[in-house]
This record gives sequence, structure tokens and C-alpha cells, in this order.
Amino acid sequence: MKILVIGSTGTIGKEIYNSLKANHEVFGAHRNSNDYPVDIMDKNSIISLFQKLPKLDAVINAAGTATWKPFDKLEEEDYYVGIKSKLMGQVNLVHIAKNYINDGGSITLTTGILAEHYEPNAVGLSLVNGAIHSFVNSAAQELDNGIRLNTIAPGAIAGDFPKDKKFAGYFPVEIEDVVKLYEYAITSDTTGQVLKLY
Ligand SMILES: NC(=O)c1ccc[n+]([C@@H]2O[C@H](COP(=O)([O-])OP(=O)(O)OC[C@H]3O[C@@H](n4cnc5c(N)ncnc54)[C@H](OP(=O)(O)O)[C@@H]3O)[C@@H](O)[C@H]2O)c1
Repeated sequence: MKILVIGSTGTIGKEIYNSLKANHEVFGAHRNSNDYPVDIMDKNSIISLFQKLPKLDAVINAAGTATWKPFDKLEEEDYYVGIKSKLMGQVNLVHIAKNYINDGGSITLTTGILAEHYEPNAVGLSLVNGAIHSFVNSAAQELDNGIRLNTIAPGAIAGDFPKDKKFAGYFPVEIEDVVKLYEYAITSDTTGQVLKLY
């Protein structure tokens, strides 16, 4: 398969990239990449990236952020950070990527445990994760040509986060198991799903 991984130098993205490249042709993209620079907050940047690549079988996004602050300190502008990056960055990616994917191909996004479990300072992330879950559930029904859409929702990644401490009430998860979910999303027939690991 020809696969694009956005966020390919991150905690999650680099492990997806390294694992998939053993058996597939994988293109790694991120803002500071020399070969495939992209900023998911900028639609033109996403379009330029796809114009450089061959037609793909799978697109995986593991990039996007939101503001971490206590609820009392969150200003409207703070919410827009997550809305423009992790939410609309991924939504715009789906709108654009579907035009550059082979029939039967897939798009896989990234959300996380904060969509349904509380962690202090994380309201901004919870908001956008939950929105993406609803988006995937419905947008997947309207993709043509057998193109599939799912999101992976991991807990905190062990290593990045102490193994013996809970995050949002759950122990961290092993990155190898998280990568397996991305592999399942691109190789199975599943669509419209939130694939959770926590
Ligand atoms: N780490 C965890 O424990 C964890 C758990 C659950 C969910 N998540 C979610 O998983 C996603 C990835 O997290 P992570 O911890 O792997 O992130 P990370 O280590 O900070 O890496 C982010 C990756 O995305 C790229 N990137 C950042 N902003 C970008 C943008 N606007 N456009 C394109 N590329 C961009 C970065 O490279 P450049 O700086 O060069 O762009 C890097 O390759 C996030 O949505 C996060 O909320 C993470």
C-alpha cells in the first residue's frame, strides 16, 4: 500500500511510520519536514502535499493540538486553538484527502481518551475529541468509492507518561498496541468507527 502518515515524527506518528514502512511505501509529513512539509491548519498546505504524492491507499493523521488550561482560565481564543488545529485540521484533511485516495482506501484520524474521560486542564481537548467522534460517525456514511473513515482514540502513551500513574482515570497504553489499531483501521473493512484503547 501507499500510505501517508501526517505527524510522522511525533510520539504516536513516528511509531506508526516505522512500523508500516517494513511492508508498505510510506510517506511521512509534518510541518518541519524537508520532503513533505504540511500544516493541517492550512488547507492550501494540505492540497500542496497531496499534489506532490502519488495516489494513496491510506492516509493517517497523528497531528493536532488544543490548549491545556483550567476551565476557569479558558478564553474563547483558547478554544479556537483546538478547533483550528485538531478539529478543523482533521475535518479539512478528510475533505481534501478523499480526492487523492484510491477506491476502497482509508482515512484514519486521531482523538483520545479525553473525549469521554475527565482530566484536569483538558476541557479544550475533550471538546475537539468529542466533535471528531461525532464527525467520523456521520461523515463516513457520505464518503464515495468505498473510502473508509475511522479515528483511533488512545489513552496516554506509556513512556511519554509514567506507567504507574493514571491519566483520566486509566493506566497508560503501550504504543505497540496503539499502532496495531491504526494497522487494523487501514487493513480491515471497518468504517465510521472510534477505535478506543484505554
Ligand atoms: N501522546 C499521547 O499520550 C497521546 C494520547 C492520546 C492521544 N494523543 C493525540 O495524538 C495526537 C498526536 O500526539 P503526539 O503526542 O504523538 O504528538 P507530538 O509528539 O507532539 O507530535 C506531533 C507530530 O505532528 C506534527 N505536527 C504538529 N502540528 C502539526 C500541524 N499543525 N500540521 C502538521 N503536522 C503537525 C509534529 O511535527 P512538526 O512539529 O514538524 O509539525 C509531529 O510530527 C494528538 O492529537 C494528541 O492529542 C496523544
